[in-house]
Amino acid sequence: WVSAADGRIKGCDWQANDDNEFAELMTRNGWVDIDAVGAQGQVNSHGSKIRVKIVIANEEQNEFFFPGFIDTHIHAPQYPNVGLFGSSTLLEWLETYTFPVESRFGSPPDPKTGHQTKTDPKDTPPLAQQIYDQVISRTLSHGTTCASYYATNHVPATNALSSLCHTRGQRAFIGRACMDNPKFCVDYYRDSSAEDSIVATRQTIEYIHTLDPEGKLVKPIVTPRFAPSCTRPALQSLGELAASYSPPLHIQTHISENVNELALVKELFPEADSYAAVYDKYNLLTPRTILAHAVHLSADERVLIRDREAKISHCPASNSALGSGICPVRTLLDEGITVGLGTDAARQACLASRLLGQSAAWQRDHPQGADGKGSDGREKLSVPESLYLATRGGAAVVDMANDLGGFDKGMLWDVQLIRLGGVKLGEKSPLGFVPADGTADLVKSGPVGNVDLFGTESWEEKIQKWVWNGDDRNVKAVWVGGGGWSIQGSEG
Ligand code: GUN
Ligand code: FE
Repeated sequence: WVSAADGRIKGCDWQANDDNEFAELMTRNGWVDIDAVGAQGQVNSHGSKIRVKIVIANEEQNEFFFPGFIDTHIHAPQYPNVGLFGSSTLLEWLETYTFPVESRFGSPPDPKTGHQTKTDPKDTPPLAQQIYDQVISRTLSHGTTCASYYATNHVPATNALSSLCHTRGQRAFIGRACMDNPKFCVDYYRDSSAEDSIVATRQTIEYIHTLDPEGKLVKPIVTPRFAPSCTRPALQSLGELAASYSPPLHIQTHISENVNELALVKELFPEADSYAAVYDKYNLLTPRTILAHAVHLSADERVLIRDREAKISHCPASNSALGSGICPVRTLLDEGITVGLGTDAARQACLASRLLGQSAAWQRDHPQGADGKGSDGREKLSVPESLYLATRGGAAVVDMANDLGGFDKGMLWDVQLIRLGGVKLGEKSPLGFVPADGTADLVKSGPVGNVDLFGTESWEEKIQKWVWNGDDRNVKAVWVGGGGWSIQGSEG
């Protein structure tokens, strides 16, 4: 199936007996199309019918291949803090939890200049090496084959993240978080000037270009953390820096996440018509730009973002944790904006979309609702739609729609092998434990227990259960560009 030379899919006939390493797993094989066009409409009303495909590997054990997840927004240095947010909202959370932990990824400044002039990953504190290694393990083990990472503003630690992704084989975009504005950034964690910010950013870009000259696995991404963290000269220079490469570099930042943040952007950039206009002024809204959150965009901002072909990363888990709000994903899609998902968000995206129709704002804006309460149900994302966003949507967001996100001929083999297990009532479990009453042991120890207990479930239903219940225990193996890891001792 997969060319050893370039890790791309050679053909799509998926027949057993092919002389390849996966054939063994294909006791029964073939496509199953999970049709994302259902009662809730389709992912993109401007596009054609969309499909999420799985390839069955072993029907007995409910094993199937699925495209690797594409995480379009993840902060690697925040891994030690996952789950800590108290009752804070964004700006308070950044100061209380985030900047303190991120600042620990720095190496001591040059005693003469006071600047961070070191670039070698070996000058990074052991903490950065350890945490970044864990982040890569953890995301790969959950089937994330490609991630767009924010690092910190420290050059050695950012380069360490690039090196680790490269040696460990995870496809990645790596961005040094630029933050030079003393009106927002704290003294202990700030670039000393706009020039310093650009010099340091260049060092991380050049490091990646030396590490992976063709950008086969790891690519740089210009990362103004968000408008409040950057001065105008820094935003200006970062836009110019991205455009100075051929092809132009990717860009990532945050936009319109929280109402206090919107007020702050107004205060810091009174000349701008909107938050999106700040980025547009400095040529940061491009077809290669990933904008995270986008919860509170105005209609005008959405038009601007669509016209610039910038992409949006939907981050519903963070939006819920920090009480930022609910991103109107259906509206974005209907208006022709490309959307992907942030960290671990397929399940959260479905959940958040179900709450949206109950919000006062949505009901005000959609008085035509079929249920007489202002909601026509279209805001809800189906499970296949959320999986589409996590794969093909993400591929489009990172500007790799022809290479990633599906099983099309010529695409890269960035794939996860999922095992749901499953046992019929009264049968011995293929996972090695015998359920006394068909449920109890499964619930305790099995990944996605009770799959098809009665032998009546469709693949659509099994996939729904996977999205709701699944975790890393279901990921049996992952491949990036054809090279892979066996997880859980699989022979694959
Ligand atoms: N805006 C600026 N920085 C951050 C961050 O680290 N996380 C979130 N959620 N929003 C941000
Ligand atoms: Fe973020």
